[in-house]
Amino acid sequence: MSEKTLTIQYQEFGSVAEMTPEDQALVAAALDAQKGSYSPYSNFQVGAALRLADGTVVQGANQENAAYPSGLCAERTAMFYAHAHYKDVPFESLAIAGSDHGVLCESPASPCGACRQVMAEYQRKSGKPMSVILVGSKRIRKFWKVDDILPFIFDSLKV
Ligand code: THU
Repeated sequence: MSEKTLTIQYQEFGSVAEMTPEDQALVAAALDAQKGSYSPYSNFQVGAALRLADGTVVQGANQENAAYPSGLCAERTAMFYAHAHYKDVPFESLAIAGSDHGVLCESPASPCGACRQVMAEYQRKSGKPMSVILVGSKRIRKFWKVDDILPFIFDSLKV
């Protein structure tokens, strides 16, 4: 038996102004995407903006339903739309912003496990790391690849 330690590296920004212009634009798109949220049950508005390798930005927002499990998170809404419309263009970066009753969370909302798994699969399909940016009003976190938020990813090709 041996003890192992896993470390991850990510960046934390106190303000969007510290980010690259490209990432600033993606953060703005994620905040804007919140407008498309349909969240009468949770009152939690999530916006996602996905930048593809050709510079296209696809937005998504959470969609809820009276039959709760029928809803979908913002991130998956964006990723599924992107793959349905731009099948062969790799995903480069995904920004996510969550607001509670219209107020952006101070500490960034973090994607659920199902969304992380979907991110992981598209990242593998792209063959390139996809960065993940989590937007809060007090801090913004940038992870360099999906593996950093989902270690030991389930990957059927590696089994
Ligand atoms: N939600 C997202 O859209 N993305 C996340 O990363 C976490 C949760 C949505 C699902 C539901 O509509 C609402 O936020 C409350 O959980």
